[in-house]
Amino acid sequence: MSLRTTPPPRRLPLLVTADGDLLDELLRLAAAGGTEVELAADPAAARARWLPAPLVLIGHDQAQACLRARLPRRPRTVLVGRTGEIDPGWEIAELVGAEHVATLPAAEPWLVDRFTECHADAPLDRPARTVAVLGGRGGAGASVFAGGLAVTAARARLRTLLVDADPLGGGLDLVLGWEELDGLRWPALTDADGRVDAPALVRALPSRGDLVVLSWDRGDLLALPAQAMAATVDAGRRGRDFVVVDVPRQLDEAAVVALQAADQAYLVVPAELRAAAAAARVVAAAAPHCAALGVIVRGPAPGRLKAVEVARALGLPLAGTLRPEPALCRGLERGEAPAAGGRGPLATLCRRLVGELTGLPVPGAA
Ligand SMILES: Nc1ncnc2c1ncn2[C@@H]1O[C@H](COP(=O)(O)OP(=O)(O)OP(=O)(O)O)[C@@H](O)[C@H]1O
Ligand SMILES: [Mg+2]
Repeated sequence: MSLRTTPPPRRLPLLVTADGDLLDELLRLAAAGGTEVELAADPAAARARWLPAPLVLIGHDQAQACLRARLPRRPRTVLVGRTGEIDPGWEIAELVGAEHVATLPAAEPWLVDRFTECHADAPLDRPARTVAVLGGRGGAGASVFAGGLAVTAARARLRTLLVDADPLGGGLDLVLGWEELDGLRWPALTDADGRVDAPALVRALPSRGDLVVLSWDRGDLLALPAQAMAATVDAGRRGRDFVVVDVPRQLDEAAVVALQAADQAYLVVPAELRAAAAAARVVAAAAPHCAALGVIVRGPAPGRLKAVEVARALGLPLAGTLRPEPALCRGLERGEAPAAGGRGPLATLCRRLVGELTGLPVPGAA
């Protein structure tokens, strides 16, 4: 088993500038705020780290380039430059989606405070562990596994958000047996534009105990804007302890955002030859967006294909295995949430994974 057990790498503020003097100044302020930073000379270099970064500073020299690159809107983005370079700067800030214009030197103390907030030891709550789940083929068991992880985390008293990113999935609330629960579903939130208020979001969603769910419904099929996903995952990372996103195999922009935001992604693959072949295609599309991707192999294995062979064929670490669980299937049909009783192969695997991801003990059977 080669799943990473150390905490995921810390996400650092991102500076987008090719202006050497401005860079020196910002590095000095970041050091004063006690944090390291990531550097990108232009939007192309910034793209992969754009959404996951806890803070993005766009140098005045790259504002137009960022605008042309059509990077998605994201919260906590600041346009920065010296007096005379960006005054007043609001018009371009608005266009690139920056919430603030920081004019140096006046804004130095304010910027140091922003950097301090990103420091690992800052007195902020640490962002929620974020997990993405996707299936190697249709019906692989990904949504059930995502539900099991979320239920298990909530049983461990982690404030958990489960996000349904699959518009064609029929609604993840159904996997939990929550379809009758009141609360907002995605269609009411698809115009979220980067200003989702975490506590308000949580209050508006269907919930039970420590678990809240943002699900699709059974209404008209809608596209999920990437900004809505970015804002939701960001709200989850700030306002919850554990976030699970059920990602479709056909990656749309919102799915890519979710993968990029996740500390860990899991690919669920049935132990069958054709499933492994299909999963290879999913890996090719998804892996470039994942900080860490592990495979969960689900039995039965009609051809006796071993889990390690599936993982080796996909070139991924084996994160876990699931034995066949007919009782789970029956429970799902009755509207019982997966892993709710804390017993069985799915609950056991989810307990181990949530424990590894959070470093917290997770209780067993009820
Ligand atoms: N751990 C499991 N044990 C037994 N059966 C399972 C398990 N997980 C899933 N199933 C069965 O497989 C079916 C499909 O599962 P699920 O909806 O989670 O797959 P998926 O990968 O999300 O599929 P889709 O391609 O539709 O997104 C379930 O309805 C259930 O019958
Ligand atoms: Mg699914």
